[in-house]
Amino acid sequence: MISTLYFVITIIILCYLWIKKRYRYWKDQGFLQEDATFPMGSFKNVGTKETEFEAFDSCYKKFKGKVQAVGIYSFLSPAILLIDLELIKNIYVKEFSSFQSRGMYYNEEVDPLSANLLTLDGQKWKERRVKLTQMFTSGKMKMMFEIIDSIGDKLVTVLENKLTESCNQDMRNWAQRFTADNIGNTSFGLECKCLEDENSKFMKYGRKMFDLSIFEVMRFMFSMSFPNISKKLGLRFFSKEVADFFYETFIQTFEYREKNNVQRNDFVSMLLELKDQFTKVQLAAESTLVFGGGYETSSTLMTFILYELALNPDIQQKLRDEIESRIEENDGKLTYEMLNELKFLDMVTNETLRKYPPIASGIRLCNKDYEIPGTNLTISSGIPVQINTYSLHHDPDYFPNPNTFDPERFNEENFKNIKPYTYAPFGYGPRICIGMRFGLMQSKIGIAKLVANFSFSPCEKTMIPMKYSTTNPFMAPQNGMWLKVERI
Ligand code: HEM
Repeated sequence: MISTLYFVITIIILCYLWIKKRYRYWKDQGFLQEDATFPMGSFKNVGTKETEFEAFDSCYKKFKGKVQAVGIYSFLSPAILLIDLELIKNIYVKEFSSFQSRGMYYNEEVDPLSANLLTLDGQKWKERRVKLTQMFTSGKMKMMFEIIDSIGDKLVTVLENKLTESCNQDMRNWAQRFTADNIGNTSFGLECKCLEDENSKFMKYGRKMFDLSIFEVMRFMFSMSFPNISKKLGLRFFSKEVADFFYETFIQTFEYREKNNVQRNDFVSMLLELKDQFTKVQLAAESTLVFGGGYETSSTLMTFILYELALNPDIQQKLRDEIESRIEENDGKLTYEMLNELKFLDMVTNETLRKYPPIASGIRLCNKDYEIPGTNLTISSGIPVQINTYSLHHDPDYFPNPNTFDPERFNEENFKNIKPYTYAPFGYGPRICIGMRFGLMQSKIGIAKLVANFSFSPCEKTMIPMKYSTTNPFMAPQNGMWLKVERI
């Protein structure tokens, strides 16, 4: 009995010493570090009381001006948060060969859809990126414009009918239904009827992908911190239910198109053209990623544009005037070229992406020891590197009065003066968002249709100031985006 007690006490002491040593890693390397406590590390409230980007932001503010980069801990694993712009540029672009990977967890064996462009590394990523880039050229966007434009018209009709029940609408829900219909249509070739039915299968599984439970957030953070153990434990990236739904849906459309030689201006047909270079599972993985990448990010952008327009009626009217005058000049029809010429819409979109970057922090994994120029400090191979986009976008040194929504920051003159690497809603370097054009196109079409037909103002359920969901891996409002909507 006594010997068992001694054994247990010895184990506890050894664990305690090991944990203490772990949380001294950055000090031992000569870096300043954020304090850490077991088991969560530096950010014990992430996932419960605050979002990851808010926790990073407090750390950024605490260390800005003192160091170029600060050591942090995620659970027991050391990571580093970049502060200095020159260093950010080096890691995103100049030293890409040493920071090529995101170090994201994937498990090809138990969850093949998790191995996609977002998560893959090295040569596998490089080859896929080259092949998939051809799906996102402006020519391809123009081809898909008509599909999204007609779904935009449907958004107006369905929302209009709904207004007979209540003016107060959750515009996040509507934006999600619109982007889910767009992506379901272009990337799975299906009329998925998300606008007509908010409980349609695509909405159900789209939500399941991102509205995570606290347990799923912990599993995600754990797998990012301990990828090897996670692989041995057989942890998944997507839940089995979500992966099965997207896989089966894609394969059905793919095989139908192949058999019946159906051609359409959408992602499915483009993926079909690549069928000799990829396996079906790989194509299904990319199609699911297009859904994942395009559904939540773009609907988040639309949601926050509408929020700021509701809070700033003058800006809303100026935008409406621009859209209406251009559409009128063209017999009431929006075109791809016209969309790209709507300057004020572009400024509003950019300012929203500054204030509310849907992916609020960037990540790279160091795969070759890297000495920070001008110091004798080294980021060792295997260390995850965090760049908190939200902090850069809210830093008053780069964007004065950062909480003020001011699209003029992005007029032609002011845009030129924005310091490089301070504005990164789509990331930077060779791993910059591949779907940027598609994301901007669908969000702008949705906003142009909504603003030309409805007015938006705050209602009693509108959250002011904004509070963010702590369990969504992307930036998201805590309780939807309730606004008063009126037909004009
Ligand atoms: C407003 C909409 C969007 C925003 C704000 C956004 C933002 C981002 C950001 C910040 C990254 C990381 C870049 C980096 O690490 O440097 C990224 C990567 C990525 N995005 Fe987007 N995205 C959007 C829309 C889309 C759409 C519509 C798609 C697909 C159709 C997409 C697919 C991807 C993919 C595949 C990657 C990984 C690229 C790679 O590693 O090579 N995104 N996105």
